Amino acid sequence: MKYALITGASAGIGKALSYKFAEKGHNIIITARRVNELGNTKKDIESRFKVNVIVKTGDLAEDGAASRLYDDLKRYDINILINNAGFGDFCMPWEINLEKANRMLNLNVKALTELSLKFVRDHVEEDATLINVSSVGGYYLFPIAVSYCATKFYVSSFTEGIAAAVKMEGKKLRAKVLAPGPTESEFLIAASKDAVVNGKDFFTDKNAFITAERLADYTYRLYESDKVVGIVDGEKKLILKDPMFQIFTSDTKLA
Ligand SMILES: NC(=O)c1ccc[n+]([C@@H]2O[C@H](COP(=O)([O-])OP(=O)(O)OC[C@H]3O[C@@H](n4cnc5c(N)ncnc54)[C@H](OP(=O)(O)O)[C@@H]3O)[C@@H](O)[C@H]2O)c1
Repeated sequence: MKYALITGASAGIGKALSYKFAEKGHNIIITARRVNELGNTKKDIESRFKVNVIVKTGDLAEDGAASRLYDDLKRYDINILINNAGFGDFCMPWEINLEKANRMLNLNVKALTELSLKFVRDHVEEDATLINVSSVGGYYLFPIAVSYCATKFYVSSFTEGIAAAVKMEGKKLRAKVLAPGPTESEFLIAASKDAVVNGKDFFTDKNAFITAERLADYTYRLYESDKVVGIVDGEKKLILKDPMFQIFTSDTKLA
């Protein structure tokens, strides 16, 4: 029995992805720190769709937690991994709380890397899919969130790099980047208590947001497509694209 592993599934985008992939007939393994939310989601999904839902709780920002989670799930046949757990920090670079910045690096970068590399190592020859959740801020720098953007540039380039390596060697695994724009979720609560930074409401245009359910539809379209990048544009539409980072080849001429 095949499973999709979805991290950060207790709220927002990850929760919506859990419903979307279950609705499409995938058994799912959902993980986050909050046990009650995951338990309720399991109950609700299993009552609506004919799929199995496995719940695993844990703090992925803790040292080694991602590796332990992956090893603990070895008995399941996971053919889709969605690294969605992540958070932002909206502040100027000189105002950042270093402890929070470290947790962000641990979750957005380290845990995602550990899970991705183990998954890729085990499934590179198989019909398997890795989807890493980046951000529009993983392709454009926002001065109000440079550390967060840098973590997401890492996610974008790392995942595009895996896609390039897989293509170069003719392997079967597919690696994809989802780059959401503003999406309704608990993200702003974690990124900045009230999204007001230096007296400015960071997201003044509430109309810029899409629902997490719409983003989950977009993600499924990316999953089904042969494109590597799915980015949400200023019109709130999904644009499916080829990789955006330049790949160095023997013909590359450095300026
Ligand atoms: N919403 C947006 O506008 C937006 C835009 C671009 C990109 N994104 C990206 O989308 C992804 C999902 O964010 P979201 O908007 O859905 O935010 P969210 O509503 O805050 O959800 C974040 C999820 O990650 C989990 N999580 C947080 N810290 C964790 C930890 N230490 N260990 C394990 N799980 C943890 C949370 O669950 P627990 O608290 O239960 O652990 C929750 O399920 C993130 O990678 C974010 O950077 C969001």
